[in-house]
Parts: sequence; C-alpha cells; structure tokens
Amino acid sequence: MIPNSSNLGEVVDLELAAGEERKRLGQFFTGSRVSRLLAALAEAQDARRIVDPMAGTGDMLAACLDVGAAPELLAAVDVDARPLAHARKRFRSETTTLTSIASSAFVSEVWQQAGHEWDLVITNPPYVRYQRTSSTVGNVPAADAIRTGLIDCLRRSTSLGKRDREVFLTAATSYSGLSDLAVPCWILCMSLVGLGGRVALVVPNTWLSRQYAGPVRQLLWRFFDIEFVVEDVDASWFRDAQVRTTLIVSRRVPDKQLRPNDSRCWNIRLKSTAGDGRSLVGNLITDCGEKLPEIEFARRVREHHLLSGEGLLVDATSTNTLLSPPHTRARSRGDVPQLPALLSEVPIQGGVTLRDMGWMVGQGLRSGANDFFYVRRSGARFSSALLPGQALVLPQDALHPAVFRQSELHGKAVVSVADAVVYVVTLARYVHPADASRDDPRRIMTGDLLRLVDSATAKTYVRAGSARPLPALSAVMPNARDKGPCGRPTFWYHLPPFTDRHRPALFVARVNGHDVRPFVNLGRELVVDANFSTLWPFRPDAAPAEAVFALLASSWAAAWLETACTVMGGGALKVEAADLKRMSFPKVATAASGELADIGAALMDDYSTHLMRCLEIAGALGYSDYENTLRAVVDERRSTRCRGRKW
Ligand SMILES: C[S@@+](CC[C@H](N)C(=O)[O-])C[C@H]1O[C@@H](n2cnc3c(N)ncnc32)[C@H](O)[C@@H]1O
Repeated sequence: MIPNSSNLGEVVDLELAAGEERKRLGQFFTGSRVSRLLAALAEAQDARRIVDPMAGTGDMLAACLDVGAAPELLAAVDVDARPLAHARKRFRSETTTLTSIASSAFVSEVWQQAGHEWDLVITNPPYVRYQRTSSTVGNVPAADAIRTGLIDCLRRSTSLGKRDREVFLTAATSYSGLSDLAVPCWILCMSLVGLGGRVALVVPNTWLSRQYAGPVRQLLWRFFDIEFVVEDVDASWFRDAQVRTTLIVSRRVPDKQLRPNDSRCWNIRLKSTAGDGRSLVGNLITDCGEKLPEIEFARRVREHHLLSGEGLLVDATSTNTLLSPPHTRARSRGDVPQLPALLSEVPIQGGVTLRDMGWMVGQGLRSGANDFFYVRRSGARFSSALLPGQALVLPQDALHPAVFRQSELHGKAVVSVADAVVYVVTLARYVHPADASRDDPRRIMTGDLLRLVDSATAKTYVRAGSARPLPALSAVMPNARDKGPCGRPTFWYHLPPFTDRHRPALFVARVNGHDVRPFVNLGRELVVDANFSTLWPFRPDAAPAEAVFALLASSWAAAWLETACTVMGGGALKVEAADLKRMSFPKVATAASGELADIGAALMDDYSTHLMRCLEIAGALGYSDYENTLRAVVDERRSTRCRGRKW
C-alpha cells in the first residue's frame, strides 16, 4: 500500500532536507519563474491529468494552476514526504485538490494507483550523480533498485503498447550504470505520457548530448515531437546552478522510428535581459495586461508571430542540433555531425572529425586521490598536500613530471619536462615495508617516501556522510590487485601504467575561463591530468600534430565549442572529450593538412600571432568570408558568459 496525502496527514515534519541528504535527494526546487514558463509552453491549461513524479514542494504543479490549468487530476509524487507536506499546504486553498503520494516514483504500485496515462508530465528531475545513489540510504533507493523499479513500472504500464514497451525496456536495461539519476527519471516520465500528451522537463544544457543519455535521446526522438527547446543563455535562471539550463517540451506521437520531427521545433535562447523579477520573459511581453507574460509569450511563439526583443533569439527549425537523431549505427560517409544551430548561417558544412583525421580524444589522468598522487617541486625538494609545510626528499624514479592545471603553463603553447612543477607519484618500482615479500624485487620504501605513503594511509575523507581512508576511496581501491601488470600484487598506491590518453600529444583544458586553446606536450613526456581533455594520433597516416593544433586554435573550433559546450555557474566553459569528438571541420581539412601544419607550427612558436593565424586557417579551410561571423559568435558568447568575471 502506498501512503498518500490522507494517511500521511499532518504528522510530517515540515523541515526540509539539508546538506548531504539534500544532495542525495537532488532536492533543488525550480521556483516560479522557470516553472511558469515551462507550464505555459506545455499548454498546461488544456491538460486534464497532470503529474510531477518528482514533485518536491510542488513548484511545477503550482505553475500549471498559475497559467490556467484546472485539471481533473493533479498529482505529486516524491520519495521524500517533507516537501510533499509543503506542497499540500500550499494547495490547500486551491479549488483543485492535490493528490500526493510519498514514494519513490520507481514503484509500479504508485502508477497502478494514480494511473499510467497523463496529459502532462512536468518535472525538474533529481540530478544526482551515480556515486551518491550506489547504495540505498533511508528511503532513497540505490541505482540498481531504481533500474529494477523502472523496468517493473514499464512492464506493468497500461499506456505503452507491446512494441513501444519493448523499446522503452531496451532503454531501461541499457542505460549506463554510471548514469545520473535523471536518466531513469526521464525514461519513466516519457513512459507516463499518453498519446497527444506532453512531457515538459528542465535539463542541464548539454545533458542530452552526454553519451550516457543516449537511450533517452532515442526514446525522445522516436516517440515525441520536440516542440520547444529553451536555453538559459547566461546561466541566470538558477542562482547556484553549475550548468546552463534548458527547458524541453515534447508531444507524444506514435512511434516514428528515426524519422525527423514533422512539426516545428522552436529553439529559443533567452538572455537574462529578457526577464524581470517576476517572469523570464517579463521584459519581452510588456503589453499583456492582467495575463501572465509566459502565457502570451507561449501563444505568440506557437502562432508563429515572429518575436524580437532584447535578450531573445528565436529560431524555428524542423529539428534541433542538441536533439539530433541518435546515431544507432556506425557513422557512414555523408552521415556527419552538423554545425551547431547558431553556425548554420555559415554555408560550409562540417564533415571531418578529429577521428577522421586519425586522432583520438580522451581525458587525462584521474588519480583518484590527488592529495597523495601529486607533489609539487620546489628546487630539489617536493611538497605534498598531506604533509603541509614539509620539504620532502623523494627518489626521482618515484616521480613523473606532469601538468595539473592550466595556470602552471603561463600561456605557453608548447610545454616540456623543463616546465614541470608538479609530479605524479609513480611507485611501480617500490613497495611499502608491510607489503614486501622475500622474492619481490621491488625496492622497499624508506625516508620521506615512506612517510608520505603512511600519511596517506592515515588520511580519511568524509564521503556520503561517513569517513573513508584514502586507500579505500572508490577510485583508489581498484589499484590493489592480486596480480598487477608487473605479474606481482599491486597495492592502492600503485597507479596503473600510463596509456596514450595520459601522455597525449595535445591537450585542452576542460574548464576554460576565457578562450579555449590547445597545448602541445613536447615529446609526449608529461603526464596530463584529468583537468584536461587529451588528444593523440592513433593511425600511421594521422594528420600532423601541428595541423590538429591549428584546427583546435581556429575560430571555427572556438565558435563550435562556445556554442555547443556547457557554461558553468561561474561563467567558465566546460570542454569535455565528448565535445571535441563531436566537433567537425570543413571537409577540406584533410587535404589541407600540410598547409594547416605550417600555420600550426608558426602558431606553436608564437601564440601571440593567434588572430592573424586564424585568418590563415580560415583561408586554408575555405571559410575566409565567414571568419568575421565566426569571431562575432565567439566574442558574443564569450562576453556573455564572462560578464563581470575576473579570471
Ligand atoms: C530537482 S527536485 C525538483 C522538484 C520539483 N519537480 C521542482 O521542479 O521544484 C527533485 C525532486 O525529486 C525527488 N526525488 C528524488 N528521488 C526520487 C525518487 N526516486 N522518486 C521520486 N522523487 C524523487 C527529490 O526529493 C526532489 O524533491
């Protein structure tokens, strides 16, 4: 039996979760400005059955009533009874009764009780990283219980036909176990929409392009017409948000397989200047009298009244690059990633990815415990975060020169061992005295090295509310193996051997305050940290590093990345390996690789010639006429995200 509003009564403590518990629940409420715009675009006023399956304090449902909804059934589900108690309190004076269900949404009985087919499923799902959901805590189910629950919900759903159910079940069984909790939430939300109904969601801007969200994109593409994609251009909607946010409204249609949208998708980019204190579009719609500006805004966009105004960019296309059809098969010729929408005015098609040019993209070294695995050199001595204020003498063969942060590079384009101030502790040749055995040829640690390892053993971190020793951290523990690559046991302090992605030829910072620029790892000698995306050639006929350097330094790449990547809360641009992999360059890039290599070499020598070299690169790639357009896109994007920031 599932508890509901009547049997929860008023015994619920109205205090809300805080701190770690709040994060584990993903409890960040949307507020009225974002909720109202989403409700208006989703035409909540016409929906008879509305549900928020992760309802929190009911902001979304309240917004539906604000825009004129008078549903027969208005339902709130949340795993935590406390916010639901708030929701019930706020709906007490409404004419529409709120049905509230305090349960995980991944319990099939919830939907048997409340019903499977909804006209509007509206929510901001919990964005909770996998690590926080890997074990059940209190009433919050663990990641595998959520998957099992989701599968059960789908099996028992009465709204899904047999074939649709199979596709949903495939998504539910195939999403990565390392996915954010939002992935199963979204699958569930989509499964709850009846034909003709809508799903309206708040998502992080690039979340849909993440690899782990692939199964979700498949479902969205097959079973929905995407109607609105509304972007928060300058990350102004949520005060504490680390990422830019997007609203997505989609209408359930019969399975389209992979045919594109029949209807138009409105791509709307809203700047903070479009809104006022009450509404995200308050400054755009000033003539709506008593009506809410969101309702009038939604009406005008739907009726194709071309809108213009400070802080708004509307672009109606048959599709949206963010939501382009998923690649369900290997990429074939002519089936290439397209330019982000903003670049579509440049009539030159992308066509060549870095992979096509023989280059792989990955991420640098994730040590799992930087406090131990990185030390800093000062003259002939080293310092460690674990032994503050102490100058350590460490053996050279226990250290590998590394790049940890962009600030260490002092603007140089080419970095070498001589520049290294940070070193990775690499102990392949050493064992701790407690781990030594008679036939083990590895040296036994002594002196400062031994003290360093011992201090790490004694170090604890608070993770998910409990203290964990450094050697037991989830990314450190797997270093301990009965038989490591050396054929002998390895221990937590033995990092696995470095691979190409750890010692790349080129690298790009993952968090970029100002411009995104490539760096060269001379001789591939430095280990590059996971703070960087890394690139290396994987085919004998790969394009020269100088040519790839030029491509990455081009205005084309800058415009692409500024348009497609996530802007973080502080205004920095996050460039992940996945973003670099997706980027594609004009088709002539391969044929022009010799010319590009000359330009790249000159740029490596003197990066201060960057703007001039960009013109040369544009010439080599055949988009000279559009170099200014691309630079304008870059400058506009960059000044918007960097406004008022000091890097
Ligand atoms: C980001 S908040 C959003 C709340 C509300 N939809 C809004 O827009 O303000 C996500 C909500 O999901 C709830 N939640 C987390 N895990 C859940 C689960 N398994 N089932 C249902 N709700 C869950 C959290 O308690 C939290 O209230």
